Amino acid sequence: MSTPRDVAVFVGSLRKDAFSRKVANALATLGPPSLKLSIVEIGHLPLYNQDDEAGPPAAWTSFRTRVKAADAVLFVTPEYNRSVPAALKNALDVASRPYGQSAWDGKPGAVVSVSPGAIGGFGANHHLRQSLVFLNVPAMQQPEAYIGGAADLFDAGGAIVKPGTREFLQSFLQAFAAWAATNAKA
Ligand SMILES: Cc1cc2nc3c(=O)[nH]c(=O)nc-3n(C[C@H](O)[C@H](O)[C@H](O)COP(=O)(O)O)c2cc1C
Repeated sequence: MSTPRDVAVFVGSLRKDAFSRKVANALATLGPPSLKLSIVEIGHLPLYNQDDEAGPPAAWTSFRTRVKAADAVLFVTPEYNRSVPAALKNALDVASRPYGQSAWDGKPGAVVSVSPGAIGGFGANHHLRQSLVFLNVPAMQQPEAYIGGAADLFDAGGAIVKPGTREFLQSFLQAFAAWAATNAKA
């Protein structure tokens, strides 16, 4: 069997018991063998400040290196005030610089938004897509993934209790595997 594609997964919430992290963990178990999903942490990244490019923090450098190594990127995020949480936006910004050396450039991507509410983080999902256009991340259009009702989605061990959601996430990952293959960076 060929080597699975390395999918770097970014979780937009820093909360220990985050629903979005639970969705990310579930996704890591539901994908086809052609994908290997690994969460890449973002909570330790210092806030982006262009002045620091003269001597970038080690956390920025290793994060940029990790993003560059990925074959594909997957964002699993809650919605904060109808947008993307600051921690995730900061991670996007950190790996986008220095100018002309963006680690995101050309990586196939996908977005999953998660909320206890009914709208499933639609606003965050689409604000994130706006940044991905500029970052030249081809973001899978279909299926869209707005995971609502997240507070009722997991058992005590973090497994998804709704078969329909599990099946949807499986089909999402099947589509993403095809998307990552079609849009693989040369
Ligand atoms: C600062 C802040 C802003 C929020 N704004 C929204 C929002 O716009 N839409 C929404 O559906 N939920 C919103 N929520 C509620 C979150 O969906 C909820 O806290 C969720 O559990 C966060 O995701 P997590 O479980 O992955 O940490 C907000 C929560 C916080 C802390």
